[in-house]
Amino acid sequence: MGEMPILGIESSCDECAAAVVVDGRRILSNVVATQIPFHAAWNGVVPEIASRKHTEWIYGVVQEALNKAGLGAGDVQGVAATSRPGLLGSLLVGLSFAKAFTWARNLPFIAVDHMLAHLYAPRLSAGEPPPYPFLGLLVSGGHSIICRVDDFDDITVLGTTIDDAVGEAFDKVSKYYGFGYPGGAAIDKLARDGNPLAFRFPMPSLHKGGEQGSKHRYDLSYSGLKTAVINQLEMFRVKNAGGNGGSMENQGPVPAGTRPEDIAASFQKTAVEILLRSLFRAAGDTGLSVIVAGGGVAANSYLRARLAERRDLRCIFPPPELCGDNGAMIAGIGYQYLARGDRSPLNVTASARVKGFKRGYP
Ligand code: KG4
Ligand code: ZN
Repeated sequence: MGEMPILGIESSCDECAAAVVVDGRRILSNVVATQIPFHAAWNGVVPEIASRKHTEWIYGVVQEALNKAGLGAGDVQGVAATSRPGLLGSLLVGLSFAKAFTWARNLPFIAVDHMLAHLYAPRLSAGEPPPYPFLGLLVSGGHSIICRVDDFDDITVLGTTIDDAVGEAFDKVSKYYGFGYPGGAAIDKLARDGNPLAFRFPMPSLHKGGEQGSKHRYDLSYSGLKTAVINQLEMFRVKNAGGNGGSMENQGPVPAGTRPEDIAASFQKTAVEILLRSLFRAAGDTGLSVIVAGGGVAANSYLRARLAERRDLRCIFPPPELCGDNGAMIAGIGYQYLARGDRSPLNVTASARVKGFKRGYP
């Protein structure tokens, strides 16, 4: 078989993305149009705006991906698109576009899972890909998953969040304190000049979840931490505003007496501590020493520094442009399915969530 350029389309959240990847490894183009400026005023992704922007942009983004790859539509040999999980209205745009493209050109089509695609990202480089099995750490605005990865399409979820995703906690804390949007990068930056020990925030106990053999042993929880950090703001407000706390939605300036850098650093330290506690348990129990990280939170500099301290573990972070949502990871994993003959029917649907993903995923 000759070279096989695959077009990958990603539209699960607020990035409108398309890429061309050859043979599941070599990236010819990787175009990501971010909608961040359109959601910033709301401090979060607004689903309807996201769907509309994807509808406006998808054609141009695909066209640009083809142009940058130096290919015409007729040179593509297959198309992959994210069908789950994500915002339904957003998913449907990329999925339907990909279906129409393949129908018009009589090409093979494959619908792929966004989380599996994140785990595929480190295989898109010239270096030796991480050998299976390894541990996966998927941390984003919508997901916090620790899993065992046996193949590109075979993972077992060991632990996940019982409430909020880790990126969501970064975003919410940032929103209440007015640190900026998206919250993760803003907090990461602020925290560099902060004292991580200035505030002591609680670690979740998850009942008896830490016990050997407990089904919650690797699970995570972020709502307690989020509330504790937000309550800190409320407390300062009460102190500084003479007892009138006001609404927590109020995004006034950070109150006097609170160093934003210290709040950011203390929150970030605890958020990462929660992740690492479960991840290190999983590494110890499974004996797996290679970790592949993915999702927006994998860009966090404190998380990276803490993982680098563990000389007994090898943690692989995809380059920044492949850490967040992108079309290259979709084209890459799509190639693997297509190359072994898998095809999705053109009536395949999108799913916001993945049923039963708690244990055997997908
Ligand atoms: O994977 P992603 O781009 O989109 C999905 O949610 O699928 O991840 C976005 C999330 C947001 O919650 C954002 O605040 C967080 O990743 N994030 C970070 C950092 N950069 C982005 N969180 C912590 N530290 C960062 N440097
Ligand atoms: Zn993602």
